[in-house]
Amino acid sequence: MTLTLRYDPLDPGTLSDPYPLYAELRKNTPVFWHEQMQSWVLTRYRDCREVLRNYELFARDRRRVGEDVPEFRQSVQSMDPPEQSPLRTLLLNSLRAQDLDEISRRSRLQIEGLFARLADRAEFDFMSEVAAPIALTITSDLLGVEEPELKSYMALSDAIARRMDAGLLPSTIEAGDRARNQLNALVDAWLEGEERPGVLASVRRNAGKAQVPEHYIRNTTGVVFNASYGTLFATLGNVVLTLLQRPDALERLRDKSLLAPGVDELIRFDGPAQGTSRVATKRTTIGDTVIEPGQIVMTLLASANRDPEEFPRPDELVLDRSPNRHLAFGWGPHACLGAMFGRIALRELIVGLLATPAPLRLAGTPTRRRTATVRSMDVLPVTFRR
Ligand code: HEM
Repeated sequence: MTLTLRYDPLDPGTLSDPYPLYAELRKNTPVFWHEQMQSWVLTRYRDCREVLRNYELFARDRRRVGEDVPEFRQSVQSMDPPEQSPLRTLLLNSLRAQDLDEISRRSRLQIEGLFARLADRAEFDFMSEVAAPIALTITSDLLGVEEPELKSYMALSDAIARRMDAGLLPSTIEAGDRARNQLNALVDAWLEGEERPGVLASVRRNAGKAQVPEHYIRNTTGVVFNASYGTLFATLGNVVLTLLQRPDALERLRDKSLLAPGVDELIRFDGPAQGTSRVATKRTTIGDTVIEPGQIVMTLLASANRDPEEFPRPDELVLDRSPNRHLAFGWGPHACLGAMFGRIALRELIVGLLATPAPLRLAGTPTRRRTATVRSMDVLPVTFRR
């Protein structure tokens, strides 16, 4: 289909509010070729979900279309079933074996402590002072690794997030690759260091039985760490902004029965993952568009999550929305492995926000980070002062 609307994911208007444009695209050109991204872009829920589900036709693993991906780079994210399955199952079992109550309790204490310390500040940046430390502590605790220094990890993760937009901004490649090397060095230090309870120890203990090679675990540790930190950081910011702009919605979340569906609705409404890509393994069609083998297909998850064919009143925050089969955690064999921990972090954040003596409110103009793949706040000035 020919694109008459201009879709520039890094345009300031799109960064600030992409949803009106997504609605136009879904209506007028639901499947279109994006020259700069060299991809087909899918904007409808049903098309995105089908691509993510059908890994035989739409691969994550570029080796399946003849590209050379070195063996030492393989991870849970780069391989498809059946090759991916033992590693994914190993990770899933290790994640499920963690003590969710204890993780929730520690998150709650951390959030309470942060809020108490920030209570008198005339203004602070929610992203660097709340979202980043919470994301880093939960992630390090979960994996059972020594927590990296906050400021330097924030910079490292920021460079990796920007690197995801390399197709749009090639200038991000160098710093992004440097950051990935730094992450690999961190992983090596964790693997050589003293073993602590957590996902990494459990994965290593069971790897032999599951016949998962050591280098898959090394790469996957870096993938899990940054997938966790980066998305938690971005989601906490997006969700807090949504709630600051709708104090009535936050109040309604005092009703405990709304907390679980409310958390999912907040992630659907303004989640961090704007899109993810796959590559066609065979000639196929989506609607009346022919996709050739080797062509990239970008599923715009954030657009799919506002598709009125799947979500009635898609642009409203409906805290008790049910069903809510959103794609904010992906779908299919690469769907998020840490969704339950993302939900815990958000639940504890909301409980923490509802417990402060004075409500959190905006104290300045929030700015979005200039990234297309991960939608995130850059600076979010807030205060508890009346
Ligand atoms: C609210 C927070 C989170 C959101 C919105 C989120 C979102 C996503 C999405 C959309 C994907 C699929 C990407 C694709 O199909 O290409 C994904 C994959 C993944 N996520 Fe999350 N995530 C979150 C938190 C976490 C956490 C806390 C962890 C830590 C365990 C985690 C670990 C992963 C991993 C390892 C993958 C790759 C799975 C695979 O390729 O098989 N995520 N996440």
